[in-house]
Amino acid sequence: MGRKRGKDANRRKKVLITGSGSGIGRSTAITLARRGHIVLATTHDEEGAEMLNKMAKGKGITLQSFKLDVTLPADRQKVLDNDIDVLINNAGIGESGSLTEIDIDRVRHNFEVNVFGPLELTQLALKDMMRRDRGTIIFISSLAGRVSMPFLGPYGMTKSALSNGVTAMRRELSMVTSNVHVVLVEPGIYHTGFNQETISKKYGWMGERSYFHAMIEQLRSDEEFYLNLAERHSTKSIITKIVAATEASRPRHRYVAPWWQGFLVQMARMLGM
Ligand SMILES: NC(=O)c1ccc[n+]([C@@H]2O[C@H](COP(=O)([O-])OP(=O)(O)OC[C@H]3O[C@@H](n4cnc5c(N)ncnc54)[C@H](OP(=O)(O)O)[C@@H]3O)[C@@H](O)[C@H]2O)c1
Repeated sequence: MGRKRGKDANRRKKVLITGSGSGIGRSTAITLARRGHIVLATTHDEEGAEMLNKMAKGKGITLQSFKLDVTLPADRQKVLDNDIDVLINNAGIGESGSLTEIDIDRVRHNFEVNVFGPLELTQLALKDMMRRDRGTIIFISSLAGRVSMPFLGPYGMTKSALSNGVTAMRRELSMVTSNVHVVLVEPGIYHTGFNQETISKKYGWMGERSYFHAMIEQLRSDEEFYLNLAERHSTKSIITKIVAATEASRPRHRYVAPWWQGFLVQMARMLGM
């Protein structure tokens, strides 16, 4: 995406992004900074922030990076008093494995990072936005929240919950303001390393005592096959959507990319999957 900005993008916005140390968050931060926005590109740890600041300086990109672990109350406070126009809740992790036998603490932690932390951060960001009657909150959910896939239940549940909650919040806010917006972005499958890390987690604990032990090797090769087939190597299509949502004066409810994965998910839902 070039530097040219459309009608909606005329106003320079102050944007805080979580999970900017890698993948979609990092590319979004760089793209928005290059488009002239004031970018607070927050990361999971201090090391990530240092690396991002160094990279930005080296490439002549103006952004500010600091640590914001979405699960830590003290870190979440950093969103306050910053006059943020747009909060992009991008940080996320994925747990995999059968819901029939997964340690519930893994599921709980996935909800802490993907749902509860971002929700608490959003409530804090909204304090300023509601007072100023202006702002946009963007949640990076997933198409995985719209279809159920075996052995991806722990992660899929967090994204279904997020998508449901975001829609509820959007409808609630529309009853009291037309100027504070809540938006869902639902990426399909992109090659950032996230999917490999997510699906491999289950192999760390689904051992000999698993109900599914006999089929683990088949599962591994099926997953590799489908990821090779579906993963998009460029994140450009989803970054374009996030930028459009960030810059829109009246953002849409839902942004999806790649379009064909969104279409397939719609079909799967019609078939009751
Ligand atoms: N890639 C896909 O196919 C895909 C598809 C649908 C949705 N998504 C969603 O897109 C978002 C970004 O994923 P990605 O693909 O870009 O993967 P990624 O590179 O792994 O990005 C996730 C980022 O979140 C950070 N993070 C993890 N726990 C955190 C915490 N407690 N506080 C703050 N940051 C934390 C990670 O930092 P560390 O690495 O330092 O822990 C990492 O930088 C996620 O919400 C993911 O669910 C991705």
